[in-house]
Amino acid sequence: MNRKPIFAANWKMNKGVSETEDFIKSFLSKIQGQDFPAEIVIAPPFVSLPKLADLLHNANAVQNAHAIQIAAQNASQFDAGAYTGEVSVVMLRELYVHYVILGHSERRSIYGETDAVINAKIKKAREVNLKPIFCIGETLEEREGGKLETVLRTQITEGLKDVSEKDMLETVIAYEPVWAIGTGVTATSEQAQETHAFVRSVLADLYGADIAARIRIQYGGSVKPGNAAELMACPDIDGALIGGASLEPQSFMEIIRNGCAE
Ligand code: PGA
Repeated sequence: MNRKPIFAANWKMNKGVSETEDFIKSFLSKIQGQDFPAEIVIAPPFVSLPKLADLLHNANAVQNAHAIQIAAQNASQFDAGAYTGEVSVVMLRELYVHYVILGHSERRSIYGETDAVINAKIKKAREVNLKPIFCIGETLEEREGGKLETVLRTQITEGLKDVSEKDMLETVIAYEPVWAIGTGVTATSEQAQETHAFVRSVLADLYGADIAARIRIQYGGSVKPGNAAELMACPDIDGALIGGASLEPQSFMEIIRNGCAE
């Protein structure tokens, strides 16, 4: 099955406008002339989205710059109105945003987002053709307590409730074990492959094997240049969602390069 790998930088609450500019200038010079068979996505904080859109638009002459897509790190499940502090999907589309990270474990644990809220956000994003990067993952306690499969099945089934086959084909799943995020501890490639295969089997139960085989499943959690190749060589891993190591242009580029080497 030919699934194009997708490498997404999740900058979290890092890099305002000027740091975004510095990063992009340096990153573009590093990818120039390298033709990665992958999609590259950058998710800066909301305030840096317009600058990122401008910089990428102006950089179209740089080979491979066209492969960079913009993502938001969150979006509201509502259309407009009295929702202080929120940003709507329509506002994001106006800024040339194509992807939106939804259900990240930090949104779930710090901001109390439930599977139902995440499901509403996924459906709202699809109304304007934004592509969700839908994050799922278990805590260490859940894994050690033998609850891995139940937790993931619930997150997937509830998060994707009433999401059509057509919309599912435009959705990326990011499997991020919570214990591997920002900790320097990655899942071994065997653990990651086994879990990705399980996630794909749940997708097959919901959407059928043909559709499940076409959905990209990223791995996330302490991905670095040194472990990207081994993780990306696994048959069910189709790219990475990268936090800490995406903040430096050199390490983000090396993750993509090493991950594409397979
Ligand atoms: P990390 O973060 O690469 O810093 O572990 C990944 C994520 O939270 O998406």
